[in-house]
Amino acid sequence: MDTLQYVKWLRGSSPYINAHRDRTFVLMLGGEAIADPNFENIVHDIALLASLDVRLVIVFGARPQIDEAYRSAGIEARYQPQGRHLLRITDDTGIRLVRQVVGDLRIQIEALLSTGLPGSPMHASRITATGGNWVTAKPLGVIDGIDFCHTGEIRRVDAVALRRQLDAGVIPLLGPMGYSPSGEVFNLAYEEVATAVAGALRADKLIALDEEPGLLDESGHSISEMTPRELETMIVRRREADIPGDELLRQLTALLEASRAGVRRCHLVSHAIDGALLQELFTREGSGTQISEHSYEQLRPAHRDDVAGIVEITRPLADAGVLVQRSRELIEREIDRFTVLELDGLVIGCAALYPYSEDQAAEIACVVTHVDFQGADRAEKLVGHLEQLARREGFTRTFVLTTRTSHWFVEQGYRPTTLESLPAARRSLWSPARNSKVLSKTL
Ligand SMILES: CC(C)(COP(=O)(O)OP(=O)(O)OC[C@H]1O[C@@H](n2cnc3c(N)ncnc32)[C@H](O)[C@@H]1OP(=O)(O)O)[C@@H](O)C(=O)NCCC(=O)NCCS
Repeated sequence: MDTLQYVKWLRGSSPYINAHRDRTFVLMLGGEAIADPNFENIVHDIALLASLDVRLVIVFGARPQIDEAYRSAGIEARYQPQGRHLLRITDDTGIRLVRQVVGDLRIQIEALLSTGLPGSPMHASRITATGGNWVTAKPLGVIDGIDFCHTGEIRRVDAVALRRQLDAGVIPLLGPMGYSPSGEVFNLAYEEVATAVAGALRADKLIALDEEPGLLDESGHSISEMTPRELETMIVRRREADIPGDELLRQLTALLEASRAGVRRCHLVSHAIDGALLQELFTREGSGTQISEHSYEQLRPAHRDDVAGIVEITRPLADAGVLVQRSRELIEREIDRFTVLELDGLVIGCAALYPYSEDQAAEIACVVTHVDFQGADRAEKLVGHLEQLARREGFTRTFVLTTRTSHWFVEQGYRPTTLESLPAARRSLWSPARNSKVLSKTL
């Protein structure tokens, strides 16, 4: 990537950085993801997310590793269909192997998260991960005469204790295990742990990492977004196909259950493609499939929480001289003047209205649409809304000062006018250095 491309990418991603800050993401990593050669990169990307103040929980599985341990010990693994899935029957020997394997994987992940060597992507970062007894489990018991022994199901998740870890900036690391109040250890499906944890924490996202780069439609095209209802249809079809050992089906079921439990965005992202997770989270086009109800775009008055988002989308333009420089403090002071367009927590557009009551005029300024969302009449909507506000306040005209966007305003019905027509208070602030054009519109 050349420097210019890099700068463009960084600018494009900055609103997403802001939107993800302090949000809770649960990452669901199957044993297959841990075994993948790309896993080291995934862990570095996880560390990067943590350094951007994303509150992360990692839930990992160990199915292929446990199968391998059974094989090495010369034990035949036994499975039994239960509910919608095939479950392992974990006997006394089995649970010993499960404990060893899960312990090893935990150490492997912790070691990777500790990588801070010069030359590694996370040089000098300090990421702390920790395990804990946050999941209370109970035995599945004897079903249709089959004793599932140490295979369990979840009773509850201690969300308060998990939140305490997140508040301290620690990444909780949960394996496919749960503990009973009597001190027993149970083997759980990691997908169920992830769903339960995401639901209990009211997580903003549940992200499943799978071999697939996302879901495909019937003609083989990747689906970047789908609703929970569409996912459900896909799950029904997949279940009918009855693919043996269908790991993806388990993950999709978990994503659907999490969306039903109130997790607004669930994602399926490849664990095999380097950077797929970051691409999904920091670019508009993403890399995998996002499951959410239809996006809800809102035009509303700005409030203090939007200051960072407004700074993110306006600063590059101010640096390039397209907009007047406004410091964070100034935007904070003038936040009541701003209207924003918000999409899923992301400020994707803004505009401000400055009244000059004595002249019955109002200035429209700082009209910006985030570059990924331009060309869909958003700025037109913003400006139209401000004009309506101005009209309601009894103003007879709106005006703009612009250096490079006069044609766009002309298309919105603005006409070039003279500096003298500006309210005196505004005229005195006109900068000869900027030499902005003045346009106005009669309301
Ligand atoms: C100008 C801007 C706000 C338009 O946002 P937007 O949401 O894409 O606006 P709309 O969808 O309503 O209009 C898009 C149209 O305006 C055109 N347009 C964009 N910038 C333009 C400019 N500087 N001059 C003339 N036309 C322009 C686009 O090409 C597009 O035309 P098309 O539909 O024929 O393809 C956006 O490009 C932006 O943020 N620019 C940088 C900030 C800026 O200049 N702000 C104005 C100064 S206050």
